[in-house]
Amino acid sequence: MDLSARGIAKSVVKRANSFGATPISSRGVLNRALGPGALKKAAGGKVVLVTGASTGIGRAAAVKLAAAGAQVLVVARSEDLLTELVHEITREGGTAFAYRCDMTDLEQIDALVSKVLDRHGHVDVLVNNAGMSIRRKVRHSVDRFHDFERPMHLNYFAAVRLTMGLLPTMVERENGHVINISSWAAMLHPARFSGYTASKAALEAWSDCVQGEVLDDGVVFTNVRMPLVRTPMITPTKLYSRMPALSMDQAADVVCDAVVSRSRRVTPLVAAWAAFAESVSPGFGDYLRKNAI
Ligand SMILES: NC(=O)c1ccc[n+]([C@@H]2O[C@H](COP(=O)([O-])OP(=O)(O)OC[C@H]3O[C@@H](n4cnc5c(N)ncnc54)[C@H](OP(=O)(O)O)[C@@H]3O)[C@@H](O)[C@H]2O)c1
Repeated sequence: MDLSARGIAKSVVKRANSFGATPISSRGVLNRALGPGALKKAAGGKVVLVTGASTGIGRAAAVKLAAAGAQVLVVARSEDLLTELVHEITREGGTAFAYRCDMTDLEQIDALVSKVLDRHGHVDVLVNNAGMSIRRKVRHSVDRFHDFERPMHLNYFAAVRLTMGLLPTMVERENGHVINISSWAAMLHPARFSGYTASKAALEAWSDCVQGEVLDDGVVFTNVRMPLVRTPMITPTKLYSRMPALSMDQAADVVCDAVVSRSRRVTPLVAAWAAFAESVSPGFGDYLRKNAI
C-alpha cells in the first residue's frame, strides 16, 4: 500500500469514484486518467444539448464535445453568438445546431423540445447549464422579491421543464444523461447568495428525487458543483479577480469528464471537507459565512 501523500490522494479519489463521485481540485477534475480517447468513445455520435452555450462554460464545453464527435445542440437567447459558435464548430469539422430560446419562458422551452425531438429524434446528454447569479444581502432585497424569483425561473424551473420534456424519450430508449451545472454554493450556502444558492439546491434535490424513479431506466443525473470559474458571470464582482478560479477550459473539461464518468456528483474537494465539517458543527459553517466575503 502506497502511504505517500500522492498515494493516499489517489486512493481517496479512487474510492470516491467507486461511490459515483468525482472530486475537483483547484486545477479541475482529479481523475483525468479518463483520457482524451474516453471522451470520443463516450460522446462520439451522441446528441448532446447544452443550454447557455452562447458564452462561458457552456460554450467551451460545446466546442470540446463537438471536437469529440458529438452532435451538439446549442441553446441560448443570443442568436448571433450561437450562429458564430456553430460556424466555429463546423469549420473544425464538427456538427452543431443552434436553437434560440429564452428559457425563462416555459412555452419557448416546450417549443424547443418539440423542434429538437422532431429533428434529432432524441437527446442522449442534456447539459442544464444556462444560469444566472445574484450576489446581494437579503436586507437589500427587501423590496426586490424578483431577486429570488429570477434565479428560480432560470436555474430551477427552466431546467426542470426542459428535463421533463426530454426524459420520456430517454426512459423509452433506456439511455440518457442529465448533467446539471450546479454550484459549490449549493453545498457551502455562502452569505449574500441566498436566491442563487436556493435555486441550485432545488435543482439538485429535484434531480436526486427523480433519479430514484428512473434508476432502472438507464438514465443518470449528475450534479456538478462547479467552483469559481472565470466567465462573464463573475466579471462584475471585482473581488473574484483576486480569488483562485478554474479557467473556462478547465471547467469545460469538468463537464466533459462528467459525460465520460456519468458520476452522480462532481464536487470540489474543499467544499466536500467544508460540508463535512459543517455536518459535525453547524457553528463552523456560520463562522465561515460571517467572516468570508
Ligand atoms: N462562473 C462561475 O464561477 C460559476 C460557478 C458555479 C456555477 N456556475 C454555473 O455555470 C453555469 C454557466 O455559467 P457561466 O459562468 O458560464 O455564465 P455565463 O458566461 O454568464 O453564461 C450564462 C449562459 O446562460 C445563458 N442564459 C442566460 N439567461 C438565459 C435565458 N433566459 N435563456 C436562455 N439562456 C440564458 C446565456 O446566454 P444568453 O445571454 O445568450 O441567453 C449564457 O450562454 C451557470 O448555471 C452558473 O450558475 C458558474
